[in-house]
Amino acid sequence: MKITVVGAGAVGATCADNIARAELADELVLLDIKEGFAEGKAQDMMQTATLLGFDTRITGSTNDYKKTAGSEVVVITSGIPRKPGMTREELIGTNAGIVRGVTNQILEHSPNAIIIVVSNPMDTMTYLTLTSSGLPKNRIIGMGGTLDSSRFKYQLSQHLGCSPSDLNAIVIGGHGDTTMIPLIGHATWNSIPVTNFLTEAQQQQIIADTMVGGATLTKLLGTSAWYAPGAAGAALVESIVRDEKKLFTCCVSLNGEYGQSDICLGVPVVIGKSGWEKILPMNLTAAEQELFNKSADAVRNMNEVLKTL
Ligand code: LAC
Repeated sequence: MKITVVGAGAVGATCADNIARAELADELVLLDIKEGFAEGKAQDMMQTATLLGFDTRITGSTNDYKKTAGSEVVVITSGIPRKPGMTREELIGTNAGIVRGVTNQILEHSPNAIIIVVSNPMDTMTYLTLTSSGLPKNRIIGMGGTLDSSRFKYQLSQHLGCSPSDLNAIVIGGHGDTTMIPLIGHATWNSIPVTNFLTEAQQQQIIADTMVGGATLTKLLGTSAWYAPGAAGAALVESIVRDEKKLFTCCVSLNGEYGQSDICLGVPVVIGKSGWEKILPMNLTAAEQELFNKSADAVRNMNEVLKTL
């Protein structure tokens, strides 16, 4: 099994580190445009192999896509990150060109790869990857909802005083501060509705804190977060390479599901060896469906910007 992570910045390197530690591949390529950067990170990570006890061979590449040839899964993290005060959407002008170029070069050498898109604005970058590559839709997966759902569980756990791992909770819709939809009415603490334990005000606080989860970290760190985004990417890789059929919310191509078409948006999907294998339907309330439709409108407007670039 060969896996490539494009972009050796904080998110890409963290994702690669998680992939190596879990031994999801025997060969892992880290590629970056900055001279020597991916090679350096790859060497540094390889020097943890005997300490952490993993057997994955990590190599770095400065923009030489030949080294990525034959990858079965590729995670794209390329592009500039957010600065404090910036929205993910403001990155579109720079990141669209980068992501389009990366996708073309990856597919030239790994035509059968499943692609996980992490770059922002993630919903539009996923749509761009799908439409510009012409790949079967199941092989293009946007990571956003996986990360946002993990952040949602963290926020819930802080209020409930429980282990985040005991929670079942998902975020659907877009991966934007105003487009994501934490479905608190469907969230459970080991099957018990979390709403049993939270006041309406607490619920609204948790939803609001989840939605700005990335922006809060950008403010604290001076750049966008990496541990959870990297781990979310690696969790998807794991479900693919081990054919785990785990349920994640991911940004995928909708063709009528959830009332939307010609768009990539976050919904619950099963992730296995073919990429996203099916979209799971949910009984959304009228209010939740309304939020989903609004989220789709906002993402569709952003997708329109692609035509002007
Ligand atoms: C975040 C970026 C990776 O939410 O979108 O932290």
